[in-house]
Amino acid sequence: MQRPNQSVILWLVRSARCIIKSFPLWETWSAKGSRKKLDLSDLAKIEEAADHPVELFSSWYAEARRYKVQAANACCLATTSKNCRVSARNLLLRDFDNDGFVIVTDCRSKKIDDLENVPYAAMCYLWCYKNEQDHQIVKQVRVEGLMKRLERERFQHLYDREPLYCKIRSHLCDQGREVDWNEMKQRHDEILNSVRRNEIDLPMPDHFVGYKLYPTMMEFYFARDHLIGDRLLYRKNTSDDSWDRCRIAA
Ligand SMILES: Cc1cc2nc3c(=O)[nH]c(=O)nc-3n(C[C@H](O)[C@H](O)[C@H](O)COP(=O)(O)O)c2cc1C
Repeated sequence: MQRPNQSVILWLVRSARCIIKSFPLWETWSAKGSRKKLDLSDLAKIEEAADHPVELFSSWYAEARRYKVQAANACCLATTSKNCRVSARNLLLRDFDNDGFVIVTDCRSKKIDDLENVPYAAMCYLWCYKNEQDHQIVKQVRVEGLMKRLERERFQHLYDREPLYCKIRSHLCDQGREVDWNEMKQRHDEILNSVRRNEIDLPMPDHFVGYKLYPTMMEFYFARDHLIGDRLLYRKNTSDDSWDRCRIAA
């Protein structure tokens, strides 16, 4: 009974020695490997040559969603106040077409105050993911242009499809105002209970607004692993609404 145990112990000791001995080898190999990676360089290239930038946006956005990028529809929106102070915040893209990009928000918010004074805005999307070839892809899309308020009927469907908590938020929150948490919680629960008892529904409030960014500039950045980024810049000709395209340095 003792012999097998001893041989097992011997085998374990030998294996452990082997593993310990192989560590320096592994370290040297992996250092060489990463050094090799650090030694690589080349240029990335955006191969898709869409005439309209929204076409390219649409294809990149679809790919980001296919690779399950977290919040692929989130973008950073920058606005400028009448005192020339710039501010930025993340928003969700609700809709887009060849004319532009739709967001919804509270018209009593800081961003809308900015936009009412300075109607120009910038949007920025970032999508990072690994593709099927295990390449680390980085894509950025920048959009700049004029932002206009939409007619109510053009975003009613966006409100209607909001989940309950978003509808409650629209009724509960005066975006950007100082609040007392306990009061908010009490009011929230009252609204929720009334909805559950079918005493109220939550129609779209007047302060729920939709805005559309009509781009005059769109820029696409693509980089991959050790490849130096490539950028495509689209600028709109306001005379005939056509788009000029050129490649710019990363
Ligand atoms: C991922 C993400 C998505 C958001 N989406 C929206 C949105 O669609 N509309 C909105 O009004 N606020 C949204 N917010 C909250 C805004 O970032 C911001 O706090 C709010 O709009 C107030 O901004 P303002 O005070 O600059 O106007 C989102 C926040 C995050 C983190």
